[in-house]
Amino acid sequence: MKNMLITGGAGFIGSNFVRYMLKNNSEVCILNLDALTYAGSLKNLEDVPGAERHNFVQGDICDRSRLDSLMRQHEIDTIVHFAAESHVDRSILGPKQFIQTNIVGTFTLLEAAKSYWLQDRKLDGNQARFHHISTDEVYGSLAPNEPAFAETTPYQPNSPYAASKASSDHLVRAYHHTYGLPTTLTNCSNNYGPYQFPEKLIPLMILNALEGKPLPIYGDGHQIRDWLYVEDHCEAIELVLRQGQVGEEYNIGGDNQPTNLEIIQTLCSILDARFPDSPHTPHSKLIKYVTDRPGHDRRYAIDMRKIHNALGWQPRQALASGLEKTVDWYLANSKWVVEIHKQQQYNQWMQQNYADRP
Ligand code: NAD
Ligand code: DAU
Repeated sequence: MKNMLITGGAGFIGSNFVRYMLKNNSEVCILNLDALTYAGSLKNLEDVPGAERHNFVQGDICDRSRLDSLMRQHEIDTIVHFAAESHVDRSILGPKQFIQTNIVGTFTLLEAAKSYWLQDRKLDGNQARFHHISTDEVYGSLAPNEPAFAETTPYQPNSPYAASKASSDHLVRAYHHTYGLPTTLTNCSNNYGPYQFPEKLIPLMILNALEGKPLPIYGDGHQIRDWLYVEDHCEAIELVLRQGQVGEEYNIGGDNQPTNLEIIQTLCSILDARFPDSPHTPHSKLIKYVTDRPGHDRRYAIDMRKIHNALGWQPRQALASGLEKTVDWYLANSKWVVEIHKQQQYNQWMQQNYADRP
């Protein structure tokens, strides 16, 4: 793990992972390849430590010749693949880009890795690694008493986003099985924490509440997610890179199952405590029930026994204190927020997704 290609390293989890790796590993050199779509920004990387070991390149994972030359030029031995279209609601309104980036992009990256590692360099599982970052959404939705998602749970993706990620997972598996590409794969639950783009539930609710805007809850708000603090996810990925078995998958989660309504009420209480004199306190009065997400998955839960038993990993951050830290990060980083709120593209998305949602 010397020369690491990180795709999507200017996005939410990717930028946290770049920061985490540079801080905790003095030997690793990172080549960060990101197309800088609406979701990626160099502002997410401004404070990375060890900047001399971080090389940013703007580029597309679908560009095969670019991948070929970058892998050779930087003698890449490890790939950590985050780059994706990641927002479920966008996949419902416009699935095409999800097929291109998540499926064609992953295929292109796998081909580049196969060509450079297996054909040119004749590397094996101890000398190279392709780690694919995936999601628990590939397993579909759980009924109230159904057991949590295990690595053996059949795939049943429900949204175009989940289907595109499931497809990419199958490609990764096939490249290991057929060609012997040294792969590992992790399926993780909902992340939250610093630098999350404010189209996702937690940052959107924090920022809307601060401005006294409605807090749009899809449907009845009783959908359940498992929430993981992003730094815990980074730690789990590093552990799988170092100690995970080639060809294996590991589920990762935060070991909690709050409803969306509970998450939003907790965020409102945190803001009430921070701003007792705000005209918007109590912030929960801003909650507004709106038209549900089509095909909305009801419940996710993660069975983490495999990663815990095999690698000793478990989440460190409790949800209540993690949410407090996250609120405080958004309060302390209003400049970062203002830049996004100024973007025409962002405001267009807000209009498109929420305007016709009574
Ligand atoms: P994000 O949307 O914040 O970031 C995605 C990044 O990928 C952006 O920087 C974007 O510019 C880049 N990108 C998009 N298309 C690209 C392309 N064609 N070439 C190069 N770069 C491209 O996403 P995120 O929330 O950080 O998620 C990262 C990964 O983790 C995704 O694969 C996602 O499916 C997975 N995941 C996310 C969560 C979550 O809760 N956010 C949970 C589990 C898994
Ligand atoms: O489970 C892992 C997945 O978590 C990742 O693979 C995805 O990349 C990531 O976006 C996330 O998907 P979700 O759809 O669960 O996250 P989101 O933040 O969009 O929504 C969380 C829940 O909140 C979901 O039940 C929908 C609901 N919601 C969301 C928004 C944006 C609302 O009720 N209102 C909203 O405005």
